[in-house]
Amino acid sequence: MAGLRSQSIFTLSFLSFLVLSNNAINTDESTYLLKLREAITPPPSQWFQTTDMCQWIGIVCNYYDDYSPSSFVEAIDLTSLSLTGEFPPYFTNSLFHLKFLRLQNNSFHGPLPSLASLPDLQEVYLDHNDFTSIPDNCFQGLFNLKNLSLSYNLNLQQWTFPTSLTNSLKLTNLDLAATNLIGSLPEIFTSFPALRRLDLSNNKLGGPLPSSLEFSKIQNLILHTSNKFSGTINVLSSMTELTEVLLQGNSFNGQIPDLYNCTKLQVLMLQDKKFTGAVPQSLMNLSSLRNVSLANNWLQGPLPVFDEHVAVALGGNGFCLDHDGPCDKAVTTLLEVAAGFGYPYLLARSWQGNNPCDGWKFIWCDKWGKIRTVNLSKLNLTGVISPAFGDLIDLWYLYLGGNNLRGLIPKSLATLPQLKVLDVSNNSLSGKVPRFSSTALLFIAKGKSLLDDDHLSQTKGTTSTSSLPPWLAGVLAGGVGLMMVMYLMIIANNRKRCFSLLQKMMIWKKTSIVLDHNVEEFIKSYQSMTLKRYSYSELKKITNSFHESLGQGGYGIVYKASLVDGRKVAVKILKESKGRGEEFVNEVITIGRTSHVNIVSLMGFCYEMNKRALIYEFMSNGSLDKFIYKKGSSICALKWSTLYRITIGIARGLEYLHRGCNTRILHLDMKPQNILLDENFVPKIADFGLAKICKKDKSVVSISGARGTPGFIAPEVLSRAYGGVSHKSDVYSYGMLILEVIGGRKNYDSGRSNTSEMYFPDWIYKSLEQGNILTRCLPSTEEENDMIMKITLVSLWCIQTNPKNRPSMGKVIEMLEGSLESIPYPPKPVLHSPERLPMRFEDFEDLSSSAHESNSLATENNSSIKNM
Ligand SMILES: *[C@@H]1O[C@H](CO)[C@@H](O)[C@H](O)[C@H]1NC(C)=O
Ligand SMILES: *[C@@H]1O[C@H](CO)[C@@H](O)[C@H](O)[C@H]1NC(C)=O
Ligand SMILES: *[C@@H]1O[C@H](CO)[C@@H](O)[C@H](O)[C@H]1NC(C)=O
Ligand SMILES: *[C@@H]1O[C@H](CO)[C@@H](O)[C@H](O)[C@H]1NC(C)=O
Ligand SMILES: *[C@@H]1O[C@H](CO)[C@@H](O)[C@H](O)[C@H]1NC(C)=O
Ligand SMILES: *[C@@H]1O[C@H](CO)[C@@H](O)[C@H](O)[C@H]1NC(C)=O
Ligand SMILES: *[C@@H]1O[C@H](CO)[C@@H](O)[C@H](O)[C@H]1NC(C)=O
Ligand SMILES: *[C@@H]1O[C@H](CO)[C@@H](O)[C@H](O)[C@H]1NC(C)=O
Repeated sequence: MAGLRSQSIFTLSFLSFLVLSNNAINTDESTYLLKLREAITPPPSQWFQTTDMCQWIGIVCNYYDDYSPSSFVEAIDLTSLSLTGEFPPYFTNSLFHLKFLRLQNNSFHGPLPSLASLPDLQEVYLDHNDFTSIPDNCFQGLFNLKNLSLSYNLNLQQWTFPTSLTNSLKLTNLDLAATNLIGSLPEIFTSFPALRRLDLSNNKLGGPLPSSLEFSKIQNLILHTSNKFSGTINVLSSMTELTEVLLQGNSFNGQIPDLYNCTKLQVLMLQDKKFTGAVPQSLMNLSSLRNVSLANNWLQGPLPVFDEHVAVALGGNGFCLDHDGPCDKAVTTLLEVAAGFGYPYLLARSWQGNNPCDGWKFIWCDKWGKIRTVNLSKLNLTGVISPAFGDLIDLWYLYLGGNNLRGLIPKSLATLPQLKVLDVSNNSLSGKVPRFSSTALLFIAKGKSLLDDDHLSQTKGTTSTSSLPPWLAGVLAGGVGLMMVMYLMIIANNRKRCFSLLQKMMIWKKTSIVLDHNVEEFIKSYQSMTLKRYSYSELKKITNSFHESLGQGGYGIVYKASLVDGRKVAVKILKESKGRGEEFVNEVITIGRTSHVNIVSLMGFCYEMNKRALIYEFMSNGSLDKFIYKKGSSICALKWSTLYRITIGIARGLEYLHRGCNTRILHLDMKPQNILLDENFVPKIADFGLAKICKKDKSVVSISGARGTPGFIAPEVLSRAYGGVSHKSDVYSYGMLILEVIGGRKNYDSGRSNTSEMYFPDWIYKSLEQGNILTRCLPSTEEENDMIMKITLVSLWCIQTNPKNRPSMGKVIEMLEGSLESIPYPPKPVLHSPERLPMRFEDFEDLSSSAHESNSLATENNSSIKNM
């Protein structure tokens, strides 16, 4: 604006001079036109025949007013003259009063001359040329611009939609077809109240249609071909002035919206896309329509019938019939179901035609053509559960778990007379749970965790929950994990023991749990929803008869296996002698309820008589100890930035375990052997055989005997004289673990000749006091130096003898991620080199199976032990 004003002042003062001197155009204008004559080839010969430039062909002059003797250039019109050449830049400084610029259908090349701040410019046609670039803000300050066409400048370098056009409130026609536009459309269509025609076809635009189009009065919306606009076209239903809509060949999806209010719509081209669902009746009712193509989509439902004078293309869709008429009742019902989810493409691809038993995915029928199973679990479905499910009266199994469904569980589901299993777990449902018959099994818990209290109070609000059969109340209250445990307990045939275990491990939400045969059915569907249950013979198959052992831990041997789909997994076969099933249940319910990038995920299990196995994701880089102790692959093989990330990753995993809402999980066996590394060296905490689930408000847990692995066990776990066992015991083990990472050695190494070096925590504290940094792998940059210092300081905080002095894992992460300066200097831990431990190693061999393993680890030939 400032530029514009100074420009006007300049021109005006110049004018007063011109008025005195001659009647022709001003010298800026004539200079520009002379330059133009030089620049274009061939120059029109007539331009050399007169010095009165206002007489030149293609140049139109005008007078300021009837009394003014001097004139100015108002229009340049060089349409279709087979001209080439590069335009002289800076129209702005020269042709200040230009209103019309028509250069279309030539071969002009080079950069477009900047048009910025030409306040009178109304129409610009630059289409069908070879311009190569567009100056920044080329279209700024064009307050009177009405028509702009740049289309078919195929050699333009890529550019994005010109937001500088927002000054042009009068813009009615914008044609940027085939101009190499990329990116998405900005939300600026409220700035174009006068826009009637928008042609952006044949570009490389993408993203959604801006919602600000809703306010526009566009009549011709032309976005077809080469573009990849996506999302729905719902905004069209508000664009009531539309007459022509050409959207073919983009990536739109979803339904064809209700265009009831688009009463002027004549041409609608929506072919070759992924539209789904039924064609709305209101579209067929539009009397303005002349030409419609819906061909080659995934449209469903009855064949749309248009007025006979409308040209229609409908081929390549999945309408239920190829003639007019209603669909089969089951089809109508399932399409209503699909409508609840917004007609997802995933369903539309196979939900075509008039028989759901004929190849419709996710639907299973019996041999009499009755729909018995609908399994829509884990399909990323959004939307709501349609009450239309209530019309599938033969339904036995309905699985909707693991989606993002919102809203209520419709009452109609409870009227399904034969329903055996309903799984709606792991969604975002809310509201009251309707009253189901006692023969139906319900999975309603959110995720694998126990139902949280809010959810429970929502379901408790009515009488419906309290009148549920007792076992069902238990399901609702305890969630999936609890029932899983119950089932395993029954198999273990050791009911009494298990109940006491359960009481220790789980929080009861409801007490009255009655077990019956339904549990078998429950577990069957649970395992198919979350954890797959494998038979022993299947394990044999996927491990190639236990061909490749990955290592041996306290609980059994770990084998490499490949699933049918090619994924690699690790199968841990638990030792038979362990008989009691405690560690098995422990693993299943602890890892089974976690989901974190730094915690190994459990993919399945086997439970068959006394054959028990756990199936985990496969970690290609093995366990961390391999890098610390094993000769050959030394810790220095990893960069410090990787080790630092590993340190933080482990902390995050532990923090997640400790964080839980009502309960926390204590791992109680943190050591390098239990940290697995995936192909990107992302650490994952494994082996939950000793884990404890405890109530969060109960800071201290009781455990029987000492457990863990010598060298990593917190003093309070060994002797209650040091305090109670809590999440701070894991913090201690974590501290010892990361000290080994720094040392690249076992913390206690009796093989050292120098006794002061035998116990690394002692040694490192002493060196720290002397201002030295102590590590096997020397840092090469200041940054690495800081990382090592941070890990060292944090580790020394973690191994403080008094649990109260140790930081929480949250604080550990904060310190590691913060600046070195912000970590306080740790007090010297009262260090327990092994000789001074309250117990000697040998004393508690029988207390923990891990102890065996750790002892055997000390011998070199066994050092590859890997304990999942
Ligand atoms: C383009 O210009 C050529 C001559 O250069 C002419 O024959 C042709 O008709 C023009 N095309 C249009 C669409 O104006
Ligand atoms: C300018 O745009 C309007 C609106 O689209 C259109 O009616 C008019 O014909 C255009 N003018 C020219 C010269 O193309
Ligand atoms: C059509 O316009 C009416 C009145 O403005 C509005 O209430 C209605 O929601 C619109 N229908 C659609 C489908 O947009
Ligand atoms: C379509 O038109 C029919 C009659 O012409 C009418 O009964 C029906 O309600 C209309 N439907 C919609 C959605 O406009
Ligand atoms: C309908 O529109 C398409 C695309 O614009 C065109 O090819 C076709 O000729 C039109 N049909 C009728 C009958 O107007
Ligand atoms: C669900 O969405 C996620 C992330 O968007 C994607 O990775 C996954 O493939 C989707 N699953 C299905 C079944 O579409
Ligand atoms: C539940 O959701 C979590 C993440 O939100 C996911 O990891 C888990 O696999 C889901 N379970 C089911 C049954 O879909
Ligand atoms: C349901 O579908 C999911 C996802 O495709 C699958 O993992 C699961 O095994 C199926 N459940 C049943 C009971 O068929």
